[in-house]
Amino acid sequence: MINDLWYKNAVIYCLSVGTYMDANGDGIGDFTGLLRRLDYLQGLGVTAIWLMPFQVSPHRDDGYDVADYYGVDPRYGTLGDFVEFTHGAEQRGIRVLIDLVINHTSNEHKWFQEARKDPQSKYRDWYVWSKKKPSGINQGMVFPGVQKSTWSYDEEARAWYFHRFYEFQPDLNTSNPEVQAEILKIMGFWLQLGVSGFRMDAVPFIIATKGPDVRQPEEQYDMLRTFREFLQWRRGDCIALAEANVLPDTDLEYFGRDGGRMHMMFNFQVNQNLFYALAAADTRPLAKALKATKPRPTTAQWGLFLRNHDELDLGRLTEEERQTVFAAFGPEPDMQLYERGIRRRLAPMLGGDQRRLELAYSLMFTLPGTPVIRYGDEIGMGDNLKLPERNCARTPMQWSNEPHGGFTKSGKPVLPVIGGGPYGYEHINAAIQRRHPESLLNWTERIIRMRKEVPEVGWGDFTVVPARDPAVLVMRYDWRNNSVLFVHNLDAKPREVTFAVGLDGDNAEEGKLLINLLAEDHSRAGDDGKHRLVIEGYGYRWYRVGGLDYLLRRSEIDQPPVRI
Ligand code: GLC
Ligand code: CA
Repeated sequence: MINDLWYKNAVIYCLSVGTYMDANGDGIGDFTGLLRRLDYLQGLGVTAIWLMPFQVSPHRDDGYDVADYYGVDPRYGTLGDFVEFTHGAEQRGIRVLIDLVINHTSNEHKWFQEARKDPQSKYRDWYVWSKKKPSGINQGMVFPGVQKSTWSYDEEARAWYFHRFYEFQPDLNTSNPEVQAEILKIMGFWLQLGVSGFRMDAVPFIIATKGPDVRQPEEQYDMLRTFREFLQWRRGDCIALAEANVLPDTDLEYFGRDGGRMHMMFNFQVNQNLFYALAAADTRPLAKALKATKPRPTTAQWGLFLRNHDELDLGRLTEEERQTVFAAFGPEPDMQLYERGIRRRLAPMLGGDQRRLELAYSLMFTLPGTPVIRYGDEIGMGDNLKLPERNCARTPMQWSNEPHGGFTKSGKPVLPVIGGGPYGYEHINAAIQRRHPESLLNWTERIIRMRKEVPEVGWGDFTVVPARDPAVLVMRYDWRNNSVLFVHNLDAKPREVTFAVGLDGDNAEEGKLLINLLAEDHSRAGDDGKHRLVIEGYGYRWYRVGGLDYLLRRSEIDQPPVRI
């Protein structure tokens, strides 16, 4: 295969326009501000941006309640500003993915307004109704503890409507062919304006059967193929990145066994086990999650992440594992959310310890897939637990130590900039970190640069190399006659590990030499063919196997033909 599937070896940066940079001084970030920060993002080295919802919205769920799919919310600018932005990104070789929130609309969307007003309206059947009060309306809430039910009564419609999320987010009847046609039209519209694909919100709910009589929703996976075919036909290099927190045995239904459905999915299974590994210095469940999510078609890719804009959902861990993570990273009740997760940012969870932050990022960057980083994490931004629910980790980007972190000239930013204390903009900001070679910002820039030169991680096949110490993860990737090997010590204490690289045949000899890509200490195997390393607390190593002539040795095809 020609290796030009860009998403297989990309670095994705997620941000929300409203909290990135405010150019017109009204306190709300806008596309003009974001456009001016594209040089920063290019310098950081990211190759794609995932933009959170920016369409017209009453903003009761941070834009995940869309009131018009074909327009930019006026507080962020105009469609013209948006196109300036996608053009600016393209000029710098940065792709733009946007959120596609089509499981539900805002209740202020005109479709819903029409639907509730008039039972004869064509929009009536675009939503999910019940004349009678359905049974089990207090089941299946996505936001337990905050959201009360999944059905609400609408006085005007004189009927109950279904909402998987908050009551102001009525579910679209996604089985209706007209709704499906509209979804494609929305995709086509934004593709025409320069985006390279979509992060599809809440995919398992989009494809589920919905209705008052549905006891056990069933996934209609074929719908995913319809979306995929449309995308690929309109623009060959466009992708769909699915938000689907599902069990590994259904992964292939989402990717498609022949790779014909979603290009990418977030790896929630690995995410939760990664946090357990960090909390317990025990990498065994993580290794298991990696194995469970390994099978996938060549064209499919995982999105790997540490934190995102939502809570860290720990719902798939065992009770004991979950309690371990809570105890380590979110012991206080106000750090936890929805009875299953932690709402903090990464840096405060790890006590602001840069060694540990580097370890966590180094690990994430070297797990099988494409890394997705969250704005502000490159400088170790904190959270504001006084803000409700997930807003605590959605505060404005901290650019400098000028008022409001240089985010706005207005006295009243959309959400308060974090000030004072260890994570205040006075200390934690991009301008200061830029001046220090060892800052997290400069470290992140260097690690991204190196990660891009290690396509083995995105494209290759991985092996967890036995190291007999649960605190240490050793992984090898092989691709086109090249191999790389990574070692991570998740414990605070130093560890000594012994391992064989595990290559055989022609490559066994290569395995005896490991060239460190980040520092000077290389490793040569002993007479027994094994490497012996002492690795400091929270230490990590990136090695090239065999030497730096790897590019001279790389093959042009994935599997060299078997010689007889
Ligand atoms: C997804 C989003 C979340 C949003 C929800 C409803 O889970 O990530 O932020 O609240 O969908 O659209
Ligand atoms: Ca503004």
